[in-house]
Amino acid sequence: MINKGFNQAFLDEVLQKNDIVSVISKYITLTRRGQNYWACCPFHMEKTPSMSIKEDGQFFKCFGCGEGGNVINFIRKIEDVDFVKAVEILAKNAGMKMPEYEDTEEMRKKKEHRDRILSVLKATSEYYISNLNKVEANTHIEYIRKRGLSDEMLTKFKIGASIDFYGLIKHLRSLGFKDTEMIDSGVASRGDSGLLYDFYGGRLIFPIINGLGEVVGFSGRDLSNDPQRAKYKNTPQTLVFNKSQLIYGYHFLRELKKQKMLDTIVLVEGQMDVIACHQAGVNTAIGVMGTALTTNHARDLRYLCNDIIVCLDGDKAGEGATYKALEILKQAGMNVKVVRLTKAKDPDEYIKKFGKDAFLEELFNAGDYMEFILLDLAKKYDINNRADRNKYINEAIEYLSRLSTGYEQEIYLPVLKEIVKVPIETLRNSLSGAREEYSKVDDKEDIELKSNAYESIAKICILASLLYGKTTQILNYEDLFDENDEYRQVFTYILDKLSNNQDINVSTIYSCFDIEKDSVWDKVINYQFPNDDVFYNYLKDCEYRLRINKFNNAKQKIKSQLSITMNIDEKYECLARLKILDDQIAKMKEEMK
Ligand code: CTP
Ligand code: MN
Repeated sequence: MINKGFNQAFLDEVLQKNDIVSVISKYITLTRRGQNYWACCPFHMEKTPSMSIKEDGQFFKCFGCGEGGNVINFIRKIEDVDFVKAVEILAKNAGMKMPEYEDTEEMRKKKEHRDRILSVLKATSEYYISNLNKVEANTHIEYIRKRGLSDEMLTKFKIGASIDFYGLIKHLRSLGFKDTEMIDSGVASRGDSGLLYDFYGGRLIFPIINGLGEVVGFSGRDLSNDPQRAKYKNTPQTLVFNKSQLIYGYHFLRELKKQKMLDTIVLVEGQMDVIACHQAGVNTAIGVMGTALTTNHARDLRYLCNDIIVCLDGDKAGEGATYKALEILKQAGMNVKVVRLTKAKDPDEYIKKFGKDAFLEELFNAGDYMEFILLDLAKKYDINNRADRNKYINEAIEYLSRLSTGYEQEIYLPVLKEIVKVPIETLRNSLSGAREEYSKVDDKEDIELKSNAYESIAKICILASLLYGKTTQILNYEDLFDENDEYRQVFTYILDKLSNNQDINVSTIYSCFDIEKDSVWDKVINYQFPNDDVFYNYLKDCEYRLRINKFNNAKQKIKSQLSITMNIDEKYECLARLKILDDQIAKMKEEMK
């Protein structure tokens, strides 16, 4: 048994003081159905809820992806933190003090290193902000004014300035940070001369902040307009910075979600656009930073909200990458709308030229993503040319079959018909062909049923019945769990609790064991009981099948012994034992009738 360095009583108190339903509902929307709560699982892509949250047992389980656990496991997954950090978050939430924690040496070192890196980044960010008041930041201030950034936004986005190449290094050293720590956190580089210098030297600084509100990196904009220099310089991959997982402005969304003020997310490209949107009052604007949108990004967004408006730069539409982003968001189960700004390069420029009201109007009029794709795709082809038209139809049908349900497809067919002027019936026929092709690819092989599957099912049924108090006859089953395997471990745990007259608490079990998906514990905890009217017969049947199986195995052993032994006494003994087993089997069969 494990409790990962914590005292079990402390962990139990953390669990007790953090009701799973209220904790989870801060992150995702729950619906009550019968005894349980349900939600769309935030850990995989889905459109209909398959995650159940049990209030009485204080645990959750997704029947789609298999993820499950108590409130600590939930926090670990959704905040992407380790066990200790998850407990810390929950303890804080409940106003509890963290006990001294005994870590392994290696874990302690790693955590310390991470903490140091975060401290370097925090100190660096503060230093850059303080630079804004210095005369050397004149160019930066001028640039900020030119781009029309308000003081409010400077503060909100913690914008700062790097004014030279060595000031930061000196400052961090004075705070006691080592050179290696500066390099590891991505704020400093070592030059050819061997001297450390500020990685973003002279740039306007945009800190990148993770979902927990920690500064994990920076993006620095060049002010020189020199095409030789990269317009933006970003933190390289570090222990805490991974561009393809971070979303600029994400922590603001989480705040809004907590305040129940998040209805539609607006996705733009780049930090200046995010800031311009916030300044225009669109405080749900977020952006990815010069990378393609990934399924990770989409999942993180989907945690928080169902609706998203993708606001595309005027020049970017019609590119595969754009469709890909829409597809990823759609497959994450979001309602996706599209705004295409044609009159300006990007939101920032649009707002400057036409004002914030015009921009809000654009968002308000955002169009359906599929209509956008269908219309946009058509621009690549000459619809009046027969061969071209067919190519277009094929491509359009492929998107339709992949990205929408049958019901949605019926909505889009008239749109497609308008574009290509081909009868709807014809389009519908090609669509159903495409759909079949698609599902063929998607169909996985049936899961291979192991020969001893029924034995496993029966054992899990019995263990679940014991766990949930459907039967108390635990000693009756002991001989069925006589092998030293996972089933026995579960059995022993329950036996131990019951014989000490202790209550069994499922959420406690999760903090005692590392429970993997599809492990015996996972299956036992999440066992779906048949209806009570058939259940008790079913339970008896499980026991019966296991016993018969056991007898048969024993018989098999005796028979093989019989076939090799030359000793006549031994032969007689084997036969006698077989007879006893046969009698027992007959008796059991009689009882089962
Ligand atoms: N980007 C980058 N490196 C570059 C250029 C761009 O990392 N050399 C990233 C930045 O995160 C940037 C985003 O890609 O915000 C979008 O790039 P772009 O549209 O060119 O920049 P803008 O956001 O319009 O920046 P600005 O308005 O400051 O020119
Ligand atoms: Mn721009």
